Amino acid sequence: MSNKLITVTSPLLPDLVDFNEMLKEIWNSKWITNNGTFHQQLEKALCEYLKVPFISLFTNGTLPLITALQALRITGEVITTPYSFVATTHSLWWNGIKPVFVDIDPATGNIDPDKIEAAITPKTTAIMPVHVYGKPCDTKRIQEIADKYGLKVIYDAAHAFGVEVNGESILKAGDMSTLSFHATKVYNTIEGGALVMHDEKTKKRIDYLKNFGFANEVEVVAPGINSKMDEIRSAYGLLNLKQVDAAIEARHQVAVQYREALSSVEGITFMDDMPGVKHNYSYFPIFVDAEKYGMTRDELYFKMKEQNVLGRRYFYPLISEFSTYRGLPSATKENLPNAHKMADSVICLPMHHELNINEIEKIKNLIIK
Ligand SMILES: Cc1ncc(COP(=O)(O)O)c(C=O)c1O
Repeated sequence: MSNKLITVTSPLLPDLVDFNEMLKEIWNSKWITNNGTFHQQLEKALCEYLKVPFISLFTNGTLPLITALQALRITGEVITTPYSFVATTHSLWWNGIKPVFVDIDPATGNIDPDKIEAAITPKTTAIMPVHVYGKPCDTKRIQEIADKYGLKVIYDAAHAFGVEVNGESILKAGDMSTLSFHATKVYNTIEGGALVMHDEKTKKRIDYLKNFGFANEVEVVAPGINSKMDEIRSAYGLLNLKQVDAAIEARHQVAVQYREALSSVEGITFMDDMPGVKHNYSYFPIFVDAEKYGMTRDELYFKMKEQNVLGRRYFYPLISEFSTYRGLPSATKENLPNAHKMADSVICLPMHHELNINEIEKIKNLIIK
C-alpha cells in the first residue's frame, strides 16, 4: 500500500499557462485592484453561474458575514448554530452582537427550525443559519419564523457554492447569503469570498462598505472595511469557474464510491443526497458510533493519520465550546445535545477532485478494517 500523504482536500488550480496570459494583461494594464476589469468580469460570470441577480466579491468568506450584519444594522441577539466554522459566530462578535445557539437537526447538521422560536427574545433581530457541508437548510420554515417575528436572515453559505433546490439557487434564500472561496472550498480564488444580495440598491451599499464606506471620491457614508478582491485573484477565479463543474462531478464520483463501500459497515453512517437538491460534494462526513464500530471516532481518526490519511474532525470542537462563547447561557451541553453528538462522532474523509482509485481504496480499507 502506498504511503503517500492523502490530504483532506486539494485546491482546484487554474492552468498555469492560461493564468500567465491573464497576469500579463494585468501587468500591462497596471490596474491591480479596486474594481478592475477582471473583478467586474468575475462578478458577472458568478451571477450567471450561480443564477443570482447581484453579487459583491470580497477578500475572504468572513468579511461578507461581518459586512452583511453591518449593512442590515443587526443588533442585540442573533440566533445561530454551534455546528459551524468559528467565523460564523466571530462575525457576530465583531459587530457586538450576542450569539444565541440553537441545536441542530441530526439528519442534516443544520440548525433545527423547530427549536428556533423558543430562543427568540425581544432582543433578537436576526437568524444566521449555515448550510453545513453544502446541505441546504429548511429555508422555507426559517423564513416563516423570520417573517412571523420580523427578523432578518443571513445565510452563511460558505459551503454551498452551486447548490440548488428544485433548480433554484440556495443563495436566493433569506436577506443575504455569503460564500467563501478559500483554497479548501469546491471553488476557490486562493483566499476570497462573496456576498449575494437581491437588489441593486443593496449591492451598491455593500460595495461602499467593502471599500471603507466610500460612496464617491469625497464622501464616506459608513465606517466600512477594506475587503475588495484584487485583479489577480479575480483572474484566477475566472479560470477556475471554467473547470468547477468537472471538479464537482469528480467529487460526486468519490462520494458514490465511499457510499458503496461504507453502506454495510456496522457503526459508520453518512449523509445521503437530498431529493431535488443539486449537491456540490464539498465534504464527505462520516459518523462513528463507537459501540457498534468497536473503535472511537478519535481512534479511527488517529489510525488513519498513522497511515498518512488525513481526515478532519470538522466541526469539532463546537463553536460553543471555545473560550469566547462557552460562558453564554445558550452554550450549555444540555441545550445542544445533537450538536455535541455530531461533533463527537464526525470525521470528514478526504474529498477533492484529484483523489484517485488507489487512494480511495486505501481510505475505504482503513475504515472497513
Ligand atoms: C461555514 C464557514 N463560514 C465562514 C468561513 C470563513 O471563510 P474564509 O475562510 O474564506 O474567511 C468558513 C471557512 O472555512 C466556513 O467554513
